[in-house]
Amino acid sequence: MPKYIAVGRVEDYPPGKGKHVVVRDKPIALFHVDGNFYAINYICPHMGGPLGEGKLSGFVVSCPWHNWTFDVRTGQADHAGGHSVSAYEVLVEDGEVKIGWLKQTEPQ
Ligand code: FES
Repeated sequence: MPKYIAVGRVEDYPPGKGKHVVVRDKPIALFHVDGNFYAINYICPHMGGPLGEGKLSGFVVSCPWHNWTFDVRTGQADHAGGHSVSAYEVLVEDGEVKIGWLKQTEPQ
């Protein structure tokens, strides 16, 4: 079983935005920040909002439903008392974006 799953090419993901991708039936939010890619769980731990549709400011995404914020590099909540989400490794090889389906970090 490959450790990384291809989800498209670099040009499929505009910088400064997130996108919904599915890796092994898991909804993941993939973000392109200044030429680097980051992946966290798509579903907000508050009430299930779509983190991949959130506004990105630097490395911080705001959930579009109630504005909880998360660092897309780690999945850590950027606010007191918030729940974090899992983060996943992302590789770019020959212009192809690949997500590691094993968790890089666990929610805390
Ligand atoms: S569902 Fe994300 S902040 Fe409420």
